[in-house]
Amino acid sequence: MKYVINAILAVIVLADVSLAQAISGEALFAKTCGTGYCHASKGVGGGAPRLAARSLSPEYIRDRVTNGVPGTGMAAYKATMKAPELNAVIAYVVSLSGGAVGGPQPPRRTFTGAAEQGRLLFSEATRGFTRCSTCHQANGLGIPVAPPFARIPATVDALKSLVTPRVSTAKVSGESMPALLLARRAQEVKFYDLTSSPPVLRTLQPDAVAITEGSSWMHASVLGTYTDMELAAVLAFLRAP
Ligand code: HEC
Repeated sequence: MKYVINAILAVIVLADVSLAQAISGEALFAKTCGTGYCHASKGVGGGAPRLAARSLSPEYIRDRVTNGVPGTGMAAYKATMKAPELNAVIAYVVSLSGGAVGGPQPPRRTFTGAAEQGRLLFSEATRGFTRCSTCHQANGLGIPVAPPFARIPATVDALKSLVTPRVSTAKVSGESMPALLLARRAQEVKFYDLTSSPPVLRTLQPDAVAITEGSSWMHASVLGTYTDMELAAVLAFLRAP
């Protein structure tokens, strides 16, 4: 009898272990997200954007995987995955995005001289959240908090005195913050709070927030870790044909 109980216990323990192993982010990703129609094997990009070696922040990845991207094929996986599964997939995508799994992808195109220096400076890891790629995307790198680049300033001085008409002011519980508005709907107001870096994505009930045009936010306040020469190189990169 004792043997039988031990055998049963062993089976239960083994089953438990294999269940835990079954929640492998890589396997879930391969099955759910890694098809050619979507992000492809190891996230190199298929019908949906590339995820590998993009330095996307863990918060950004968590938000997109959990809540989806409205109007696209990207579903809100909180509806279909349990928390441990979600966490496993998110951890795997974070590792892909950092280039840890499958190795970093080569840059989409090559640059030379100042533009190449600027490309490296744009997303330089040692600058942490003060780097441009915290808020901008260029050449497939970075997080598109700010709208895509339309006008590239002609000079470093022009970059430093950039006006930011799309930044408004949000007032939440008596506190004002510079805000980049993403959506204003009947049920929700969504914006990036630019108070801190990286900016925080906030979703609020419309009656919990008052939005007014304009702000006292200065783009120059986020350029501080770059010298003028470095900024000139970054502009050369952004301007490179
Ligand atoms: C903390 C976030 C943040 C960081 C970091 C940041 N920017 Fe920006 N940037 C913005 C926002 C927000 C706007 C849009 C403002 C607007 O249009 O009202 C912007 C606008 C710009 C524009 C104008 C684009 C256009 O089409 O009008 C340029 C050029 C630019 N940034 C370059 C840079 C460079 C170069 C760096 C790094 C040296 C950098 N930014 C770092 C948030 C940031």
